[in-house]
Amino acid sequence: MITLPEGFTILALETSCDETAAAVVRDGRTIVSSVVASQMDMHSRYGGVVPEVASRQHIISMAPVVREALAGLPGGWADVHAVAATYGPGLSGALLTGLNTAKAMAWQRGLPFVGVNHLEAHIYASWLDVGGQDVGSRGRGTGAPPEFPLVALVVSGGHTLLALLRGHGDYHILGQTRDDAVGEAFDKVARILGLGYPGGPAIQRAAESAQPAGTLPRAWLRDSYDFSFSGLKTAVLHKAQERQERETRIPKPAPKPKVSHQDPRAQPVAPSPPPALDAAWVAQIAHAFQESVVDVLSAKATDAARQHGATAIILAGGVAANTRLRAELARRAGVPVRFPPIALCTDNAAMVAAAAFYRFAAGAQSGWDLDVTPNLRLGA
Ligand code: KG4
Ligand code: ZN
Repeated sequence: MITLPEGFTILALETSCDETAAAVVRDGRTIVSSVVASQMDMHSRYGGVVPEVASRQHIISMAPVVREALAGLPGGWADVHAVAATYGPGLSGALLTGLNTAKAMAWQRGLPFVGVNHLEAHIYASWLDVGGQDVGSRGRGTGAPPEFPLVALVVSGGHTLLALLRGHGDYHILGQTRDDAVGEAFDKVARILGLGYPGGPAIQRAAESAQPAGTLPRAWLRDSYDFSFSGLKTAVLHKAQERQERETRIPKPAPKPKVSHQDPRAQPVAPSPPPALDAAWVAQIAHAFQESVVDVLSAKATDAARQHGATAIILAGGVAANTRLRAELARRAGVPVRFPPIALCTDNAAMVAAAAFYRFAAGAQSGWDLDVTPNLRLGA
């Protein structure tokens, strides 16, 4: 490990999916500024992220977002010691915008540059000093960084994995999803239930209003830390289809004919779409789905922490924003559970800067030829 000078300040960029983000972080812990321009509204129209739209929007948002992040520094660029950016995993076109911008800025300023793994960045969100905000089962932020060994549960829109962390950069994957990522399952189930995009917060809200009834299957994959969520998603789909078929069979009063008798060219009315699912039933299914996911995630993370003698469980990624998952994991785990405040669970650049700090401290630097790696794995 190299001891970096006190006050070492990193400007980091994050563009792996649909958030254009820039942040300035000091000493790998103190957030000077963290700016996130979300494209959520743009993609919600399509029910998910459209890669081409995301890349173009990153290009438009990048300069103002970087300018705003730098405005947090009295000396501007003069106060920046190094630059970092996410280089994978993620959408290649989206990653390219952030990576190339960061490399160009570092090269032009003669600053060291490092590429960061997005999954590692999600984990390092738990190293950021969040000034007394809620950071897990130990309560409010105390400022003390986590101590190794740790078990990390990374749950995002694109990934679901359990990892053992023995030191900075020393990762061992214990298990991962064999099909859908948890966030992806939340998003797909929300779409089936007509709850919109992004699905995670919508399902959480619906579940809170539910009169719980019934359960949905859990894929335990015994003797493995792997996960599977596609069977659960299909179970919800079948239930929704059955419900809609039943609604269609119930005879309704015949609608008034809409075809004009005066105009023989008038077209008959198009067949009506499947009936909307009723809100109370949707809430029950959202609740059962969330319980099923939370049960499996909490059980496996708790077992892994026990087996490997972890000092704490780090909950990371967009789905770590789920309040039910936070509460249940904290209730079951025999060790403290650490999670970042919601704004640092979903994609942001402060977490990229935190991860970059430990990469620089380990003596790492990336070359100008660093390319994006859309399928980059943790520990690669
Ligand atoms: O980490 P993230 O912002 O982007 C990726 O790297 O994928 O994660 C986004 C995912 C989405 O699938 C979203 O539905 C999910 O995180 N998410 C949630 C919640 N908030 C965001 N899932 C469950 N409960 C939430 N409250
Ligand atoms: Zn992410």
